[in-house]
Amino acid sequence: MWTALGTLSEPPGPRAASGRFWAATLGAAVGLFLLGFLIGWFAKPVEEKTSSSPHGEVKAAFMAEMKAENIKQFLFNFTQLPHLAGTKENLHLAQQVQAEWKAFGLDSVQLVHYDVLLSYPDETKPNYISVIDEYGNEIFNTSLSEPPPPGYEAVSDVVPPYSAFSAQGVPEGDLVYVNYGRTEDFFKLEREMGINCTGKIVIARYGKIFRGNKVRNAELAGAKGVILYSDPADYCASGVDPYPNGWNLPGGGAQRGNVLNLNGAGDPLTPGYPAKEYTYRLDKASGVGLPKIPVHPIGYHDAESLLRNMGGSAPPHSSWKGNLNVSYNVGPGFTSNYSTRKVKMHIHSNNKVTRIYNVIGTIRGTVEPDRYVILGGHRDSWVFGGIDPQSGAAVVHEIVRSFGKLKKEGWRPRRTVIFASWDAEEFGLLGSTEWAEENAKLLQARGVAYINADSSIEGNYTLRVDCTPLMYKLVYSVTKEIPSPDEGFEGKSLYESWYKKNPSREYKEVPRINKLGSGNDFEVFFQRLGIASGRARYSKNWSVEKYSSYPVYHSVYETYEIVERDYASAVSNYAHIIYNMSRNHEEQLATYNVSFDALFSAVKNFTEVAANFHDRLQHVDINNLLAVRSLNDQLMFLERAFIDPLGLPGRPFYRHVIFAPSSHNKYAGESFPGIYDAMFDIKNKPNQREAWEEVKRQISIAAFTVQAAAGTLKEVA
Ligand SMILES: *[C@@H]1O[C@H](CO)[C@@H](O)[C@H](O)[C@H]1NC(C)=O
Ligand SMILES: *[C@@H]1O[C@H](CO)[C@@H](O)[C@H](O)[C@H]1NC(C)=O
Ligand SMILES: *[C@@H]1O[C@H](CO)[C@@H](O)[C@H](O)[C@H]1NC(C)=O
Ligand SMILES: *[C@@H]1O[C@H](CO)[C@@H](O)[C@H](O)[C@H]1NC(C)=O
Ligand SMILES: *[C@@H]1O[C@H](CO)[C@@H](O)[C@H](O)[C@H]1NC(C)=O
Ligand SMILES: *[C@@H]1O[C@H](CO)[C@@H](O)[C@H](O)[C@H]1NC(C)=O
Ligand SMILES: *[C@@H]1O[C@H](CO)[C@@H](O)[C@H](O)[C@H]1NC(C)=O
Ligand SMILES: *[C@@H]1O[C@H](CO)[C@@H](O)[C@H](O)[C@H]1NC(C)=O
Ligand SMILES: *[C@@H]1O[C@H](CO)[C@@H](O)[C@H](O)[C@H]1NC(C)=O
Ligand SMILES: *[C@@H]1O[C@H](CO)[C@@H](O)[C@H](O)[C@H]1NC(C)=O
Ligand SMILES: [Zn+2]
Repeated sequence: MWTALGTLSEPPGPRAASGRFWAATLGAAVGLFLLGFLIGWFAKPVEEKTSSSPHGEVKAAFMAEMKAENIKQFLFNFTQLPHLAGTKENLHLAQQVQAEWKAFGLDSVQLVHYDVLLSYPDETKPNYISVIDEYGNEIFNTSLSEPPPPGYEAVSDVVPPYSAFSAQGVPEGDLVYVNYGRTEDFFKLEREMGINCTGKIVIARYGKIFRGNKVRNAELAGAKGVILYSDPADYCASGVDPYPNGWNLPGGGAQRGNVLNLNGAGDPLTPGYPAKEYTYRLDKASGVGLPKIPVHPIGYHDAESLLRNMGGSAPPHSSWKGNLNVSYNVGPGFTSNYSTRKVKMHIHSNNKVTRIYNVIGTIRGTVEPDRYVILGGHRDSWVFGGIDPQSGAAVVHEIVRSFGKLKKEGWRPRRTVIFASWDAEEFGLLGSTEWAEENAKLLQARGVAYINADSSIEGNYTLRVDCTPLMYKLVYSVTKEIPSPDEGFEGKSLYESWYKKNPSREYKEVPRINKLGSGNDFEVFFQRLGIASGRARYSKNWSVEKYSSYPVYHSVYETYEIVERDYASAVSNYAHIIYNMSRNHEEQLATYNVSFDALFSAVKNFTEVAANFHDRLQHVDINNLLAVRSLNDQLMFLERAFIDPLGLPGRPFYRHVIFAPSSHNKYAGESFPGIYDAMFDIKNKPNQREAWEEVKRQISIAAFTVQAAAGTLKEVA
C-alpha cells in the first residue's frame, strides 16, 4: 500500500528556510555531544589543563570531517519517496542505510524487526466528514486528499491525511467548537458555560498540546467524534514555509498524526515486552492507548465550511477565536436557520499488525566496550519527510560516515557507540520502544547516554536543547566550540548567539535549556529506563511564534560542577516550584497535615552528597582506570536512581520521579509529576481527604527517591 511513486524531485525543504550553515552546525553539535560522552563525563576539567590533549585532536579531526554538502546530499536522497512505516519503501531505505553504514566502517550493522500495530486508511473507502441536511443528504463533504504542492500534481499514492489509530465509525451529531481541546478548554465549556459534550462531535484546532491529549479530553467529555484542524492563527503566522507534514501546513493541507495515549507503552498490543513473533498480543480492541471514537484531521478551508454557521454560545474569550472568517461560536449545533443540519464523520481506517525495521549499527569501544552511548533518530515519515525526520537522519548519516572515517584511520571511541535508525516513530515511538524493551537489561546495566536526532531544524532562529541536568555542562561547553551560523554573529560561538537570543529565565548568563517531555524516541530511554538523554535542533523565535512553548525552569551555573550545581540545583528548584503550587491551599495543608519537609530534607542531603562527589571528582587519579570507572558509573547510575520501578500513578512506563511528560500535554515536560498530578485541580476532587492523602503519598515517594539517589553518589564504603 502507498507504494510505487516513481522518481520525483522534491526540493529538500529545510535548505530554503534555514540559513546557510544549519546542517554543519547541527551535525557538529550532535556529533560533539556524542564525543563528549565518549571522552567521559568528567574528563573535561582534566582535559582543559592539557592543551594538546588527544581528545582535542579527535574533536578537531571530527569537525573537519563533517561536511554540510554531504548532509544536503543525504537529505536529497532520503526525501525522494514517502517512507511511511510498514511500507516497502521504508524497508528499502532501511536496507540502504544498513549497506551504507557498513561501507562507512561500522563494526556491525543489523536490521532488527518487530511486528507492531499500525494504522492505515482503507484504500477503497476514503475517510471524510460531511454536513447533512434533515433528510440525511450530504450537502458538503471535506476533501479526500491534500492539494499537491506545485510540481507534485502527478504524484499519486501519498497516504491521505488521517488520524492514525482512529476508531472506525460514522457518528453524526451537533458540532461543538472546543478551542485547542486542552484540559482548561473543556473545564471552561463544562464548568463555566454549562455545555455538555456528551454525544456531540467536537472540533478542536491543532496546537499547544499533543493531539492525542485532545482526543482523550474529548473522549472523557463524552464526545462521539473528534475533528482536528489547523487554524491559520496557529499555522500561517510569520511567513514560515509550509511543508507536507509536521507543524506548518499549507492552506488546503491537514496534519497527519497518531492519536494514541500510549504513555510510553510502545506497541499497543505488547506493552512492556518486545513485539517479537512469539510475543503474546492483546486483542486489537483492548490495545493500550487506542481512542474509542473516530478522529479525523482537516485543513482550514474545510474547517471554515464546517464552522461557518455555528450557533449556540459565543466564544467565551477572544483567545478562542482563530483567523477564519467565522464567528467561532461554540455551539452545540448550527444557527437557527440551519438547525436541522448535522455533521457526520465517515472513518474507515484499519489497525493492522505490520512488520517494522530498525537499523542498529555499532562501533566497539576500546577502554569500556561494555558502556554504550546511543545516537538514534527515526527514519519513517508521513510523506517525504523533508524536515521530519530526514533533516535529522541526514545529520546522523554524516556523523556515522565521519566516525567511520576516523575509525579507518585508527581511532576508536573509549566506549561503544550504537547508532540507530528507528522505524514507526510517527505511530507512537514504536521502533525505539520495542528495541529498548528487547534490550532493557543490557541498557539498564550499560547505557551511558542517549542522544536523539529527529528534525534538526524547526526554525532558523536559534538552538533549542532539551536534556537532563546531567548534560547541561556538556551542552554549554560543546556549543562554545561551534561557530554560530547566525547573521550578526560572525566569528562568535553558537553558545553566544544562543545565549543572546534565548537566555535562561531563572539563571544568570546562560542560555535556556528545556526539560525533556516526550513525543520523540528518547522517551523510553529517559522516562522508562533512566538513561541520561538529550536532543538539539535549530528552532524558531518562540516569543513570536505562538504555538506550543514549553514551560522552562532550568538552572545552571557556568562551572564544571556537573552534579552539584546542575542536578542538585534543578531538583531544588523543582521542589520549590511544587511547594509554591501547594501554597494556594494553605488551609488544606494544615487540615490534612501535609508537609514538604521530608522532600526538602532529601534535597538538602542530595545537594551535600553531590558537592562531596564533585570534590572526589576533582581529586581522582585520572590514570587509575578503576577509580575513574567507579566515578563514571556513579554518574551513569544517578539518572537510573530517579526511576521508581512502580511508575507514576496510572502510567507504569513513565517511571522517572523528577521528570515526566505532562499528563495534559505529552510534548511538555513536568517536574515532580507525581506530586503535580496529585495536586492538579485538587479543589474540585469529590473526596478532599483522599485527594490530600495521595499528595502526601507522592511527596513521600519523591523524598524517598531523591534521598535514594543521594545514596548512589556517596563515597563507596
Ligand atoms: C528565517 O525565517 C523567517 C520566517 O520564519 C524568514 O522571514 C527569514 O527570512 C529566515 N531567515 C533566513 C536567514 O533564512
Ligand atoms: C540514494 O543513494 C543510494 C546509494 O547511493 C542509491 O542507491 C539510490 O539510488 C539513491 N536514491 C535516490 C532516490 O536518489
Ligand atoms: C458527498 O459524498 C457523498 C458520498 O460520496 C455523495 O453522495 C454526495 O453527493 C457528496 N456531496 C457533495 C456535496 O459532493
Ligand atoms: C451530559 O449529558 C449526558 C447525556 O445526555 C448526561 O448523562 C450527563 O449527565 C450530562 N452531564 C452533565 C454534567 O450534565
Ligand atoms: C466573511 O464572511 C461573510 C459572510 O459569511 C462575507 O460576507 C464576507 O465577505 C467575508 N469576509 C472576507 C474577508 O472574506
Ligand atoms: C436567517 O434567515 C432569515 C430569513 O431568511 C434571515 O433574515 C437571517 O439573516 C438569517 N440569519 C442568519 C444568521 O443567517
Ligand atoms: C524574537 O522575538 C523577540 C521578542 O519578541 C524580538 O525582540 C526579536 O526581534 C525576535 N527576533 C527575530 C529575529 O524576529
Ligand atoms: C516560590 O515563591 C516564593 C514566594 O512567593 C518566591 O520568592 C520564589 O521565587 C518562588 N520559587 C519558585 C521556584 O518559583
Ligand atoms: C503530622 O505529620 C507529622 C509528620 O509529617 C507527624 O509527626 C504528626 O504526628 C502529624 N500530625 C497529625 C495531627 O497527624
Ligand atoms: C537527610 O539526612 C539526615 C542526616 O543524615 C537524615 O536524618 C534525614 O532522614 C535525611 N532525609 C531523608 C528524607 O531521608
Ligand atoms: Zn519525527
